[in-house]
Amino acid sequence: MTVERKPVAFGDLRGWIAALNAAGEFREIDAEVDWNIELGTILRLAQGPGTGPALMFNNIKDYNRPDSRCRRVFGGGLASHRRVAMMLGLPPDTHPRELVQLGRTILNERIPPKIVKDGPVKQNVIAGKDVDLDAFPTPYWNRLDGGRYLITYAGVVTKDPETGVMNVGIYRGMVAGRDQIPILMWRAQHIGHHVTAWQQGGSAEMPIAVAIGWEPSLGFCAGTPVAKGVCEYDVMGAIRGAPVELVKCETVDLYVPATAEIVIEGYLGLDPATYMMEGPFAEVTGYVGGERLPKPSIRVTCITHRNDPILRGTIEGALPGSYSENAICSSIMRAATAWNVLDRAGVPGITDVWCPPVHAGMNLLVQMKQTYRGQAKQAANAVWGSSAGHVRYKHVTVVDDDIDIHDYAAVDWAIAYRVNAGEDDIVIMPSTFGMGIDPSTRKRDRNAVLFGTGKWNRLLIDATMNLDYDPDPDYGGARFPPMVWPEKADIDAAQARWHELGLDHPKRS
Ligand SMILES: Cc1cc2nc3c(=O)[nH]c(=O)nc-3n(C[C@H](O)[C@H](O)[C@H](O)COP(=O)(O)O)c2cc1C
Repeated sequence: MTVERKPVAFGDLRGWIAALNAAGEFREIDAEVDWNIELGTILRLAQGPGTGPALMFNNIKDYNRPDSRCRRVFGGGLASHRRVAMMLGLPPDTHPRELVQLGRTILNERIPPKIVKDGPVKQNVIAGKDVDLDAFPTPYWNRLDGGRYLITYAGVVTKDPETGVMNVGIYRGMVAGRDQIPILMWRAQHIGHHVTAWQQGGSAEMPIAVAIGWEPSLGFCAGTPVAKGVCEYDVMGAIRGAPVELVKCETVDLYVPATAEIVIEGYLGLDPATYMMEGPFAEVTGYVGGERLPKPSIRVTCITHRNDPILRGTIEGALPGSYSENAICSSIMRAATAWNVLDRAGVPGITDVWCPPVHAGMNLLVQMKQTYRGQAKQAANAVWGSSAGHVRYKHVTVVDDDIDIHDYAAVDWAIAYRVNAGEDDIVIMPSTFGMGIDPSTRKRDRNAVLFGTGKWNRLLIDATMNLDYDPDPDYGGARFPPMVWPEKADIDAAQARWHELGLDHPKRS
């Protein structure tokens, strides 16, 4: 790292919003906005390609009476690399390359949480028959969604029944009645491991809590594949440089941030007879995904919330021109995770790793200083063989260390002239596990209920100079001919004459 990090504990969502406001990264919308389609449309259009502000909707149709339980929705907090840098305690203009570097170490740091007795999230406690999810202005985010999605950027907390270690992940959840939230979760995710463990212990239900609205590290860590057995609260502590203060839930033996805006407690039904219809939803891929099927549902036993709570949500689905929070965060954390996987697998010479945000980490770019043939294949195999590769890294492109992987043109140029499909530079790894919502996979093979996972045919584009070629004496022993970019002495000589040649101010026609 070339920049110094000063960890910031924002305290809660409100502290984060105040910091965003002070940095000019935040806008409030006071005009009335409909929760039905309009709010989601505005958020998607406003976020731009990582350039838009975070938004607070203060006046939501049907939820703007003085006695409305919840009247505000906040989104887009991490929809730019500038704000990810702020969360990490770095200057907003820190280059994403540095954010990836920091992401690599922060995932391995821990500051364990601290249990406290009470907190603002207990200001209002609604239990039993009084539970009514309709009291929250849950957006119908997109016209093609199957319902109103309350869980879009919340920390879903579960516990390993044997070790007691909690996991915090993001798993989408749709309102399906006053007290029911079916969610989308896959067996290969950590929540899926917990489901298996609770089932094997003979339980028909698994305790679950959903923390909505806290510091940015909540969504950031919950959406990141933190290593199995490591609690995301520990990594959040490392990001903010101070322990996360947790309070115990009212009706389940789980812990949530004491200053969260809203907490939903309950039990996830593990018996397929209790499953409820969920989906589809505008997904990470930019397509509608996750078919309408019966899914495990949270039976809500209690809701606690702060006074005048803020509902934290996000618009999912990255597309050219509009990058989701997931896409922005994935570009950093999925790259950082892949780099750590490569390191642990012992692949030498890695000099940079990047996931452009437009596709949220499906296409992984690796830059390496290769010293032996087959090194790019070693890298791809390591990434694909890791559990982190389950829902990411479908396509891996490897380039030499003279190619800037943050420059699309440079990567495209390397693919144009360093790839020879007849020389094993294109490799397909067929029928691997993969994301169950990728529309390029046949519908039958996206059925994660039937197969436990999706089905990806993975691709390596080895755009490095082929070290299997013979060194060529005509090229001074190199495999490839020299490039035409002038030598430094020739550049210096030409630039010394720039003024004389009248090239300082290019003529415009
Ligand atoms: C906005 C957003 C929505 C997500 N939705 C889902 C989802 O519905 N189901 C799922 O299994 N993973 C979803 N993910 C991905 C997981 O959160 C991610 O893989 C994370 O690593 C899961 O936590 P775990 O590693 O502890 O299992 C989503 C991520 C984000 C950022």
